[in-house]
Amino acid sequence: MPMALASPASHRTDPPMLTKSAAKAFFLGGTGLCSLAFVLLTLDTVAQFPDRSNASEITPQVMAGHKIWLDNNCMGCHTILGEGAYYAPELTRVLERRTDDWIRAFLADPARMFPGRRKMVKYDFFDPAVAGAEQARANADAVIAFFRWVARIDTNGWPPAPHLAGAPRTPGGGSAAPAAEPAAVASAPPFFRSVCVGCHAVEGYGGKVGPALDGVADRFDRDYLQRWIQDPAAVKPGTTMPRLGLPEADAAAIADFLATLSQKE
Ligand code: HEC
Ligand code: HEC
Repeated sequence: MPMALASPASHRTDPPMLTKSAAKAFFLGGTGLCSLAFVLLTLDTVAQFPDRSNASEITPQVMAGHKIWLDNNCMGCHTILGEGAYYAPELTRVLERRTDDWIRAFLADPARMFPGRRKMVKYDFFDPAVAGAEQARANADAVIAFFRWVARIDTNGWPPAPHLAGAPRTPGGGSAAPAAEPAAVASAPPFFRSVCVGCHAVEGYGGKVGPALDGVADRFDRDYLQRWIQDPAAVKPGTTMPRLGLPEADAAAIADFLATLSQKE
């Protein structure tokens, strides 16, 4: 008599966990719900754009800066909001490490600020010597206004703070300033602290593009210094110190300050 074999696959006869129609309903319902949530969240995000981007602050000047940014493909080297190329520094929050004065002086002739380093393009429309003082300043100010607007967009913290180890920095202009500002510099006019120290050191603090300014009052008199600051090339043709386009009053204040940098007793 043949033995009745116990079926090894007895579970196959258990009722299925989901019937075909239940699985279908589950799939359609789930997909529908997730799609709906996605659409609602997207609408919610889009509705926040005007607020998050401070749309009301997009002035004609910001638009002009944006146009300069696009027309010249600054993104071919820089990123902004994390978007662009990685050759040059991220610029979303450039104003946290650079002052307006520094950016204006830099754009006028970038290579002079960092001689011998990889170079940022020199654009004639930022150069007072080519475009004229007023036009160059208007163009630089438009780009700065654009940076200022971009920096205030609420992106939930994107992009993260750029990794700028080894990148050029203005002493006093960044959170990772190389050293504490000495008292002698802290008492200087703001333009000196943000721009001149980019190229000159005082008490070892500052750049090395130009000579250190310790004891400069012993080498030059105050009036000479003021003429020098206002137009270096007029004093010494062919000099590599840039003309920074300072108003006379500011140049005078800086000359007054330089006149205090004496090392004589
Ligand atoms: C060919 C590549 C290139 C292009 C294009 C370019 N830059 Fe730059 N930029 C650089 C480099 C490189 C630096 C870093 C300083 C240096 O080495 O000269 C820099 C630095 C800067 C800085 C200073 C950033 C900092 O924190 O020190 C600003 C501001 C800036 N660029 C603005 C612009 C604007 C505005 C444009 C477009 C009009 C532009 N750049 C186009 C390469 C470029
Ligand atoms: C982009 C770099 C750069 C910036 C910015 C700059 N300088 Fe200079 N400066 C130089 C260079 C380079 C020299 C040397 C020029 C020469 O000998 O022809 C120089 C020379 C000088 C000298 C003569 C020093 C000496 O002992 O011979 C003084 C003073 C001076 N600069 C003051 C200033 C002041 C003040 C500022 C800001 C208003 C300033 N510089 C901004 C690059 C710069």
